[in-house]
Amino acid sequence: MIKIEQVSYRVNGYDILSNMNLTLGERKIGIIGANGSGKSTFARLLNGIKLPTTGQITVDGLDTRTCGKAIRGKVGFVFQHPDHQIVLPIVEEDLAFGLKNLGYSKDKIKESIDAILSLYHMHHLRKSPAHLLSGGQKQLLAIAGVLVMEPDYIVLDEPTTLLDLRNKRDIFQIIENLKQVVIMVSHDLDLLSNFDRVIVFEEGKIIGDDHPSITIPLYKNRMTC
Ligand SMILES: Nc1ncnc2c1ncn2[C@@H]1O[C@H](COP(=O)(O)OP(=O)(O)OP(=O)(O)O)[C@@H](O)[C@H]1O
Ligand SMILES: [Mg+2]
Repeated sequence: MIKIEQVSYRVNGYDILSNMNLTLGERKIGIIGANGSGKSTFARLLNGIKLPTTGQITVDGLDTRTCGKAIRGKVGFVFQHPDHQIVLPIVEEDLAFGLKNLGYSKDKIKESIDAILSLYHMHHLRKSPAHLLSGGQKQLLAIAGVLVMEPDYIVLDEPTTLLDLRNKRDIFQIIENLKQVVIMVSHDLDLLSNFDRVIVFEEGKIIGDDHPSITIPLYKNRMTC
């Protein structure tokens, strides 16, 4: 369970997020809202990449202020821009990076990488230089690199913006089938319609928090008037 209690995030005296109170525990939670409404800032608070100005965020009882390292092991994060995510030059090395840090054996690392390359139709890219991949392939690699570590919670910030239709659908299907709690920022409203809960942000506040059949129309309505 991720608990957000009286959280604000302030820069230069301006509230980018104000007085948020949420408990996140459903399996699939979407975050939607206009550009600049605070979605990425909020997402980054969830695993302690950013810390709140006021209030408290806990993940299974651990405070992001004091237990950052443990929380980053529990909460995987997929950045809006995949270049922020990819750390090693060759695809298979990049996928192995997090698993080595988790102390996996060589055999287990190879087995996990084989499985994930096959799941993402990326076998042919195993030895490719990561910086030469296309934008969409980089995005797939970034998602794969987080999922391969099997964190308890997965936060994704617009993970499908660069993907073609097939990869977008495949990624959504993979995400829907994950057993973990997934919190995903997205502008792909149709694909969020199968989620358990969708939260609407507007100017750093929550203006809707319900089943997508209620909050997606609410958001569409706000965007047209
Ligand atoms: N470090 C910062 N300093 C100043 N302003 C910031 C900082 N971080 C975020 N902001 C501002 O806070 C607002 C929210 O930004 P954020 O990136 O969270 O929006 P978003 O909802 O993710 O938007 P998008 O849909 O475009 O990705 C923006 O107006 C942004 O300029
Ligand atoms: Mg954003």
